[in-house]
Amino acid sequence: MGFQKPPGTQDLLPGAVEKWQIVEAKARDICRRFNFREIRTPIFESTDLFQRGVGETTDIVEKEMYTFTDRGDRSITLRPEGTAGAVRAYVENKLYGEPDVTKLYYIGPMFRYERQQAGRYRQFHQFGVEALGAVDPALDAEVIALGYTFYKEVGLNGVRVEINSVGTPAIRTAFRERLLAFLEPKRELLCKDCRSRMDRNPLRVLDCKVDQQHFEGAPSILDSLDDECRTHFEALQGHLGAMDIPFVINPKLVRGLDYYTHTAFEYKAEGIGAIDTIGGGGRYNGLVESIGGPDQPGVGLGLGLERTVMLLENQQADWGDLSRVDVYLVGLGEAAERETVKLLQQLRNRGIAAERDYLGRKMKAQMKSADRYRVRFTAILGEDELAKGEITLKDMSNGEQRQVSLTGLADEILASSQP
Ligand code: HAM
Repeated sequence: MGFQKPPGTQDLLPGAVEKWQIVEAKARDICRRFNFREIRTPIFESTDLFQRGVGETTDIVEKEMYTFTDRGDRSITLRPEGTAGAVRAYVENKLYGEPDVTKLYYIGPMFRYERQQAGRYRQFHQFGVEALGAVDPALDAEVIALGYTFYKEVGLNGVRVEINSVGTPAIRTAFRERLLAFLEPKRELLCKDCRSRMDRNPLRVLDCKVDQQHFEGAPSILDSLDDECRTHFEALQGHLGAMDIPFVINPKLVRGLDYYTHTAFEYKAEGIGAIDTIGGGGRYNGLVESIGGPDQPGVGLGLGLERTVMLLENQQADWGDLSRVDVYLVGLGEAAERETVKLLQQLRNRGIAAERDYLGRKMKAQMKSADRYRVRFTAILGEDELAKGEITLKDMSNGEQRQVSLTGLADEILASSQP
């Protein structure tokens, strides 16, 4: 038996990759319009960064990181998410010294050693954005709008936006006490996950899928907010309304990472097994400082690309024309075949995607090949034509054929390809 890919990873083969390219191109285009600029940070970072950034008590840091000691005896971790690395780069490169808000985006692989299930991988890909240097709730709204616009424009239906305010660390500490006072008497009724979360991160208990019937009358974090948090959250809602971004407030929404303050949000959609969250993010006003930078606020999001593509497939999205070859060249006879080598290069130099046969196949098999490539044109060169300096150009969309000069072939194709 040969080798197999590690569990929780995927080979993206030709055919699927084109769909990813469409999704990624949309992400880039949206970032251009929202004025976010790309940043590329290392796939691995020092383990401390994630311990301090993501949080010691999170599932990610406690049990999901790919951590190893390198040959220089450093503890290294494959990034489980993108925010910590982006913020590290922001601090290390002193981007906070720039006069404007720093707006960054990234697309790339992340690694979490998670239990396998539909929509959950050990190597997965995120499209993420981070906006650093402002507390203005208009920036939170912009980030939420960016993700919403992305899903809408890639053609995903049924995406819901849920928002919450998780306050400040001090507010959460006080709320944690109130919540624990409510939960303690019910401890024995709750599932194993909830009981363990009560000890580690009680706020996440409210997120549980199976125990909701026990949470009737639970305190809401929204009632614990101070004036500053409440004003920020209300302004955010006003901005989302002004931008026509539909949303619902979910006071139980708590994210799996520790760095959030004020705004937390998720994008949800049905269709991937038990999972309904396809993206999420929020504000993180203490993160920059906690990893050794200045006291600069930030807000961002991370959208899972596997989940996006899976849902698009489930919804039978229209990917448009995925064919990649414009013209297939057929040479009949030795001299003509040789000529196609030259023609092919001429066409490619002019920006035309061109292909030919390399297997010495008969004309009929070559035409089938052209069909498989779903080419717009085939160009057939016979000995007589070669002698006259002409070639037959066949438009596969309507079957029409015409003779064109060999030297004018590229121009003909370019002129007929205009929509
Ligand atoms: P997160 O909620 O941990 O947030 O991940 C964001 C998205 O990444 C998820 O909603 C999901 O679509 C995708 N994702 C996470 N884990 C997996 C997995 N094992 N398999 C497939 N997809 C997965 C963050 O990572 C934050 N850094 C987001 C953020 C940016 N907050 C502020 N800035």
